[in-house]
Amino acid sequence: MKRIENYDLSKQNTFGMKVKAALYIEYDSLEELMSLDVKALPQPVFHIGAGSNLLFTKDFPGTVLHSNIKFIKYVDMGLDEVLLTVGSGVVFDDFIANVAGNGLWGPENLSLIPGEVGASAVQNIGAYGVEAKDIISGVVCLDTRDWTKTVFKVGECEYGYRDSRFKHERGRYIITSVLFRVTRKYSPKLEYGGVKAALEGRDLTALTPMDVREAIIGIRRAKLPDPAEIGSAGSFFKNPVVSREHFERVAPEAPHYDLPDGTVKIPAAWMIDQLGFRGQKLGGAQVYEKQPLVIVNASGNATPEDVIGLENQIIAKVQEKYDITLHPEVDHI
Ligand code: EPU
Repeated sequence: MKRIENYDLSKQNTFGMKVKAALYIEYDSLEELMSLDVKALPQPVFHIGAGSNLLFTKDFPGTVLHSNIKFIKYVDMGLDEVLLTVGSGVVFDDFIANVAGNGLWGPENLSLIPGEVGASAVQNIGAYGVEAKDIISGVVCLDTRDWTKTVFKVGECEYGYRDSRFKHERGRYIITSVLFRVTRKYSPKLEYGGVKAALEGRDLTALTPMDVREAIIGIRRAKLPDPAEIGSAGSFFKNPVVSREHFERVAPEAPHYDLPDGTVKIPAAWMIDQLGFRGQKLGGAQVYEKQPLVIVNASGNATPEDVIGLENQIIAKVQEKYDITLHPEVDHI
């Protein structure tokens, strides 16, 4: 177990905010986590993954916990379905590379999403028509109310768009491993705009999970900043969903996606772009040129105030022009 006081968190958040935690603890197993006397730790206690979906708004006065539980174990190799259990500290993309490398279908469309397995089950990460909930079978966690191990089936996790019970009851559950269900059955998911195009010229009846993984990686690399090079937390805002009447009143010309319940999803990136924010800077923060849904730490020295200032400008302008309230996708801590 690693235990460091006055810990520099700049490498623990992909935005690269230079903030500190009073105490940082990294544990290697569920047993180590259970051995902690949390009440005796500096408060509050906050659990992070790779820090790829959060914005530290200031120094953290309490304890930051991080899982270093790293295992990938295949537990049931059925004829069709394959079950595997994966430690919460495994890099999500390493899990995908492992599964796709074994010729199994399921998570390949989520390739290259930054972050770790535990956080994927909290945030229900999603991309290119697939969400984490589609491949999760169960979630093993520690209930911090009574310090007992608890297991939730996927149906009990209250999953929605970037949402789950682990967000509703924030801080209550610490995820230690996730049970995933993947399949041998040929099942590429190519319907989401741009995926088929990226596989042009290929025989779409004879792809491997690795082929799809590579296509997705190509799409993401072209649009999204590489966290190793430029700080960001991916999409900064959620895509808003409005009534059809609202859509027709404020933005009938917008690209949009009709949802089954008759509502309409409008890409936040489109509105942000229309309002002239693409490439706009505030201090060290900038709206990313190639994808205006992303705010980046362009100078490497952006402060939380720079990022929040830009965020507030965008929210205010979108509200004024489209009568829509954008909500951040990134957690503010
Ligand atoms: N859409 C569809 N079908 C399509 C294309 C788009 O339903 O064929 C919907 C999407 O669900 C999305 C909206 O239209 O809500 C805009 O889609 P676009 O592909 O332009 O992506 P985006 O809004 O820039 C979203 C995710 C990304 C994810 C991409 C690809 C959010 C906030 N962001 O971005 O996730 O990689 O779609 O699926 O939903 C992230 O969460 O950090 C992130 C990068």
